[in-house]
Amino acid sequence: MRHLIDPMDLSVEEIDEILDLADDIILDKEKYQEVCKHRKLATLFFEPSTRTRLSFEAAMMELGGNVLGFSSASSSSASKGESVADTIRVVGCYADIIAMRHPKEGAPFVASEYSPVPIINAGDGGHNHPTQTLTDLLTIRREKGRLNKLTVGFCGDLKFGRTVHSLIKALSRYDDIEYIMISPEELQIPEYIKKDVFEKKNIPYSEVRTMEEVMPKLDILYMTRVQRERFFNEADYIRLKDSFILNTEKLKTAKEDLTILHPLPRVNEISVKVDNDPRACYFRQALNGKFVRMALIMKLLGVNV
Ligand code: NCD
Repeated sequence: MRHLIDPMDLSVEEIDEILDLADDIILDKEKYQEVCKHRKLATLFFEPSTRTRLSFEAAMMELGGNVLGFSSASSSSASKGESVADTIRVVGCYADIIAMRHPKEGAPFVASEYSPVPIINAGDGGHNHPTQTLTDLLTIRREKGRLNKLTVGFCGDLKFGRTVHSLIKALSRYDDIEYIMISPEELQIPEYIKKDVFEKKNIPYSEVRTMEEVMPKLDILYMTRVQRERFFNEADYIRLKDSFILNTEKLKTAKEDLTILHPLPRVNEISVKVDNDPRACYFRQALNGKFVRMALIMKLLGVNV
């Protein structure tokens, strides 16, 4: 039985297989509409979500399966003090596969140790978000036609942003990626990412304080929201929240084929005027999230067509 807890749980070949399958699903949705008939996906969300939970549920429905679950800790027995281990042992009796989001780093890993069915990490604290990474990789591959030879700027809250941490790890296995980290000093990427990913693999990266100074070089601009819920004090959040705002003016020096990504939700960090720019890919990215989750569910359930 396989789980997906960390993006590195999948080999590059397995990622290729999932992305190829997602591409095929996009081309021929009818072929897949009954492949998970009578199977059930449980979505256990101990933390808020719109895209991730609903795209998982839509994914399972489009495969002909069913969904059950909860969308907040307060509506589950976690509010009575039940442990993750016990919740998972029980839900594993009702569902064939579980997607779980939790505010504590490592909670989905603990779940996987007790679960009788595959566990998918749908976000654990500031740590990992492997299915967003699959979404990002599919989007980059569809927009750019490749996953190598790219200059990627990560902008915003690089300290708490789990989508950034997971995508950096996943991209570290492709060739000729230039990483540019764009953040205020207080929201830099954590030391462990620098050590475990960049230094260990001898991958060069640079850190800058404005997006303007690097804009002309970028192939991908990955924008992120300042993660308010992970701040210890509100004053720091208010001081940093509008650090980086992408607007049409700043895009003037960008490449014509820049790909602008954002895992969403957006707060203020991308002006709505940018939405009409053909380089804005974040709503297509959200749609890709459903297709890649369909492919992942099939892979973890061992469903072949
Ligand atoms: C992200 C998350 O939950 O980490 N959202 C998502 O899943 N698309 C990003 C965020 O909340 O800022």
